[in-house]
Amino acid sequence: MTYQLLSVVGTRPNFVKLAPLDRVFEASGKIDHRIVHTGQHYAPALSGDFLKSLGLKKSLRNLEVGSGPHGAQTGWIMEALEEECSRERPDLMLVVGDVNSTLAGALVAAKLHIPVAHVESGLRSKDRKMPEEINRLVTDRLSDILFVSEPSGVEHLRAEGVDPEAIHLVGNVMIDSLLHCLPAARERDVMSRLGVSRGAYGVVTLHRPSNVDEPERLVRLTRSLESLGHSLPLLYPVHPRTRVRLEECGIEVDSKSGLRLIDPLDYLDFLSLLEGAKLVLTDSGGIQEETTFLGIPCLTLRPNTERPITLEVGTNRLVRIEELESCFQRVLADEWNKGSVPELWDGKTAERILVQLEIFLGSRC
Ligand code: UD1
Repeated sequence: MTYQLLSVVGTRPNFVKLAPLDRVFEASGKIDHRIVHTGQHYAPALSGDFLKSLGLKKSLRNLEVGSGPHGAQTGWIMEALEEECSRERPDLMLVVGDVNSTLAGALVAAKLHIPVAHVESGLRSKDRKMPEEINRLVTDRLSDILFVSEPSGVEHLRAEGVDPEAIHLVGNVMIDSLLHCLPAARERDVMSRLGVSRGAYGVVTLHRPSNVDEPERLVRLTRSLESLGHSLPLLYPVHPRTRVRLEECGIEVDSKSGLRLIDPLDYLDFLSLLEGAKLVLTDSGGIQEETTFLGIPCLTLRPNTERPITLEVGTNRLVRIEELESCFQRVLADEWNKGSVPELWDGKTAERILVQLEIFLGSRC
């Protein structure tokens, strides 16, 4: 028996999570897997080119919704997706992560009585000012089978009253992608192209509204990074959202500092750069996990994280702007926690998800 499975993705981190699942679904011969790309991310660097570097070759149906305020964007995705799902009537809708496309997918499927599987379920920052936290709460509420990457996720879902039978601690699909792509990433010459050598540079990524939307904070952060750049060159691939904010605020980076703004990189180049870095400064969720896996010190510019395992066993630490300099110097002095790899982050998460999905679908069809 072949099951019809429809996955919804829309943003750069979604693609990283879906690629290993698509590979195991195809290899199983039991899942007819179709993928809808909402078009939430549309810049080639975040979408087409990025997908290519991940090895996700399948042609995706693109709904081309583009950017907009949260309500409007979610609504546009729902409208287009409802039409798609009513026509296709899949046996299951699969959503990943916590972006607006994830929420829209879960809402549409639930209203059409199509069961929902959520990958990367249960994570909570407990901060409802983050749009992603709202997306996580609602998506999990609507999901019928929930795949969790770390133990905190299981605790949250149980505390929220989710049926324990529906919760599966399976590990982290992002690490499946990382392990699959690492050999190809190591062939990339991005370090020499950018004029840096292994262990002698840092990587910066910032795109969260809480860091980049308020001009005063963005100026302060940029000046702090310029100052750190004098001790260690910092490469900063700039997310389009951040680029727009920097331009709106008229912020220019001092070219004499070691802080270098570059265009967003594809997955293999970014992975290669990450693996060779002395340290990473970020507000991304996924990068906290990737650095923990790679054992690279990670300074997360946020007051909270929905991924506490990266603090408990990994190399991650939450830092305030005032603490940046001292943490930075501790890393340079090699006084940072070496960390270890969380349980089940072993490159086999997609396989474990497939096993559970087959049981779930078998019991319903
Ligand atoms: C989205 C996710 C965030 C995730 C991030 C990863 C939500 C609520 N946010 O944030 O959780 O960490 O993706 O990258 O879903 N833009 C472009 N080109 C693009 C896409 C966006 O220029 O291809 C610019 C536009 O100015 C747009 C802004 O970025 O208004 C924000 O894009 P949006 O998709 O709403 O959120 P992200 O900040 O990318």
